[in-house]
Amino acid sequence: MGKLTGKVAIVTASSYGIGLSIAERLAEDGAKVMISSRKQQNVDKALQTLKNKGLTVSGVVCHVAKKEHRQKLIEQTVNEYGGIDLLVSNAAVNPIFGPMLNSTEDAWDKIFEVNVKSTFFLIKEIVPYMEKRGGGSMVIVSSASGYIPIVGSKFTGAYSTSKTALFGMAKAVARQLARMNIRVNCIAPGLIKTKFSEILAEHEGEEIIKVMPLKRFGEPSECAGIVSFLLSADASYITGETVGVTGGISSRL
Ligand SMILES: NC(=O)c1ccc[n+]([C@@H]2O[C@H](COP(=O)([O-])OP(=O)(O)OC[C@H]3O[C@@H](n4cnc5c(N)ncnc54)[C@H](OP(=O)(O)O)[C@@H]3O)[C@@H](O)[C@H]2O)c1
Repeated sequence: MGKLTGKVAIVTASSYGIGLSIAERLAEDGAKVMISSRKQQNVDKALQTLKNKGLTVSGVVCHVAKKEHRQKLIEQTVNEYGGIDLLVSNAAVNPIFGPMLNSTEDAWDKIFEVNVKSTFFLIKEIVPYMEKRGGGSMVIVSSASGYIPIVGSKFTGAYSTSKTALFGMAKAVARQLARMNIRVNCIAPGLIKTKFSEILAEHEGEEIIKVMPLKRFGEPSECAGIVSFLLSADASYITGETVGVTGGISSRL
């Protein structure tokens, strides 16, 4: 029996990258997992991959900034699996690159809408379902750039600032949800090999590796085990915390 056997999990932005790896690990550890992302073809492809491995997964299109998509995600999960115990809020965007002072108001709106506001509202919308199950556990995927902004030419301070906000959100919401037996934690990945980090890796990868004690980028699967642990009963006395998955880069505010 896996440590998440009997649990139902939602993972956002899980059709490729870190989210897919997390979804796979949760299912391997026994959870029934609802995967989701904006594009149907990406969801279908991920479902095929995971089902071919014999895992119990389902999928739905969900752009996290769209309220009606979030509702569909929740409804479909409850209809198919009977409730919700676990949430991984993994979706984020970074639509602009370059010096922070060049960032526009539109970019700030988009970054904060997807990365911060949607995370909060998804949490708020899922809480009643976790309450019905007598409790639950959530993990927010933040970023080490929330601690140490990436100052190179390819990332912006707006993205880093949104990720710092998620550390605060986890702490604030964890206090209120504790009385409902719901725990909320964050992970803060450093540089992980995905499509999202490709531009940064191409242009500034060598510089960044120099300051990494482990001297390499991380793999998405290296984020997945810690998420499964934080969601599981093994982490029953941990809430409001952030765990850095950074290859040794310092990760404190
Ligand atoms: N890679 C890194 O080095 C790194 C480091 C620190 C933190 N992170 C964080 O890790 C998380 C995942 O990043 P990643 O590197 O795995 O990215 P990725 O490889 O680009 O994967 C992105 C996933 O997000 C989905 N997606 C994008 N926008 C979405 C939206 N608005 N609503 C729902 N789904 C959406 C994509 O599918 P569709 O295109 O079908 O929507 C895809 O499944 C993000 O929160 C990111 O900030 C990444």
